[in-house]
Amino acid sequence: STSEPVRLEDWVRDIPDFPQKGVLFKDITPLLQDPKAFHIALDRLAAHYAGAGIEAVVGVESRGFIFGAPLAYLLNCGFVPVRKFGKLPSNTVSVEYALEYGTNVVELHTDAIKPGQRVLIVDDLLATGGTVSASIELVEKMGGHIAGIAFLVELGFLKGRDRLEGHDVFALIQY
Ligand code: PRP
Ligand code: HPA
Repeated sequence: STSEPVRLEDWVRDIPDFPQKGVLFKDITPLLQDPKAFHIALDRLAAHYAGAGIEAVVGVESRGFIFGAPLAYLLNCGFVPVRKFGKLPSNTVSVEYALEYGTNVVELHTDAIKPGQRVLIVDDLLATGGTVSASIELVEKMGGHIAGIAFLVELGFLKGRDRLEGHDVFALIQY
């Protein structure tokens, strides 16, 4: 018998009031747990960037690593982690960004990106765009060229895409 095409959104569940009251949290762990859905998500991301000349995939700690590392493997390029403050052992550049409450700092090794290198930034989810904006800033400080920004999920109603203007933004699932 023929099989139905996988609808990735069927593998994302809503968790009300997490991490605080009034927030409807999109939980991607069901998708990660399902071999077919996880495989197809990565294949679709890889297909989107095939022939785009991506030279490095930058994944944003921590959920960006889940998609960034296998995507780098599929695109035959290296993987570069953007990490939370204090985790990277060598020389770093840092950017501070605003969270819903307070601020956070992300870092990148200064030798991780070469000037002009074509970089794909990957994260699991686009909400306000604060995290990825900080990652863009890090890559651009090192002279990297942002060839694309990829997400599994985009929360469109939070308008994060507006903060990424001028960049090529792609998401597999929109809400
Ligand atoms: C989540 C998510 C994105 C970011 C999206 O990460 O994985 O990185 O928030 O929000 P934004 O668009 O408003 O910046 P979180 O900071 O919870 O860290 P985690 O990946 O370690 O769970
Ligand atoms: N789901 C997962 N991660 C998130 C969300 C969400 O709804 N909002 C901000 N980060």
